[in-house]
Amino acid sequence: MAVVTRGGYRVMDLDGQEFTPQVHTIAWDPVSAVKGEYKHFMQKEIFDQPRAIIDTLGGRIDFENGTVHLPEMNLTPDLVAQINKLFIVACGTSYYAGLVGKYLIETIARLPVEVEYASEFRYYNPIVDNQTAVLAITQSGETADTLAAAEQARSQGATLWAIVNAIGSQSMRLSDGSIPMHAGPEIGVASTKAFTTSLVDLYLLACALGTLRGTISQRDLRRLTDDVTHLPSLVGRVLERDSEYQTLADQYYKARNFLFLGRGINYPIALEGALKLKEISYIHAEGYPAGEMKHGPIALIDEAMPVLAIVTKDALYDKMVSQVQQAKARGGIVIALATEGDEAIRQEADYVIYVPQTPPLLAPVVNVIPLQLLSYHIAVRRGADVDQPRNLAKSVTVE
Ligand code: G6P
Repeated sequence: MAVVTRGGYRVMDLDGQEFTPQVHTIAWDPVSAVKGEYKHFMQKEIFDQPRAIIDTLGGRIDFENGTVHLPEMNLTPDLVAQINKLFIVACGTSYYAGLVGKYLIETIARLPVEVEYASEFRYYNPIVDNQTAVLAITQSGETADTLAAAEQARSQGATLWAIVNAIGSQSMRLSDGSIPMHAGPEIGVASTKAFTTSLVDLYLLACALGTLRGTISQRDLRRLTDDVTHLPSLVGRVLERDSEYQTLADQYYKARNFLFLGRGINYPIALEGALKLKEISYIHAEGYPAGEMKHGPIALIDEAMPVLAIVTKDALYDKMVSQVQQAKARGGIVIALATEGDEAIRQEADYVIYVPQTPPLLAPVVNVIPLQLLSYHIAVRRGADVDQPRNLAKSVTVE
């Protein structure tokens, strides 16, 4: 309760006891909440990503020693030694960030991770105790299902962590440790920069946990921290090719269905690509792990079905090429998202989108950008309300 007068203010609890509130300064620049030269907030937020990632990394990496610092996480060797399982709970785009997070944390820190939709976690009686950590990922920090899942885990003894954009939000206040996204205000309903900055936070968390759990050497850590510093410029290089996505959108904006395929760490990116398209353009889209295509979606493929396949160079490249060949053999139109310099893929696909070579654990951050741009341009071409899609809300504070 606050009493505000001309001369100042006094803050009291509900019993009338005065106290000195804790002050959090939110470094959000009011200019970042206006569209400026952009047509839509979503477009601005997509182009804001190199800057947002720089802010996310800011102060977290000590380049001299090659170490990661997450002061708000309050991680101690004792706490990390106690934890033997991590649940990630989230909704929507944040849930897909969680799926990438599982891959990162299990690979780097070798800690078992389960990712759950917060709305499911609440009701299925998960196995949680004081050796469990529960990480909520939430841009708004106010999503009702995510908060309820975290509160339920707390009552079962879990340690609560949060990756959150809105400073001072309920999710942040509820948690024992948190990592701010530092994405700045995200106004477009469809999440973009909060997704990529969450991925960067998850990468840093994986590095911090890997160090404390002894699963990575000092040398590995230095390589991982070196790699991430190139991310803003790699994302910037994708954005420079924006006009190509406009051309692609002109070609495919009338499609009624889209299939997105990916494997491994890029499977959640296929899911996110499909979600972006359906949210803002109202085209039905499905994301699928490419290896599962033969168990169902292949039946849908014909010349009216664009298939966007993430075929960037990694350990699963050959497997992905073979999925592309199978889609082509069924008459599908294949758009391949490939690594610069991969000329061979041109023989396999109808259209190739190139992204710069990126270390595999960071590839999701780079690979999602073309999918955001494609969805954006398709939605604009269809005359949809990009920033305020029908029936959707930015922050869902009810169950
Ligand atoms: C809504 C928004 C999505 C968002 C989801 C989770 O559905 O439209 O863009 O991903 O909520 O929001 P959160 O704030 O918890 O990340």
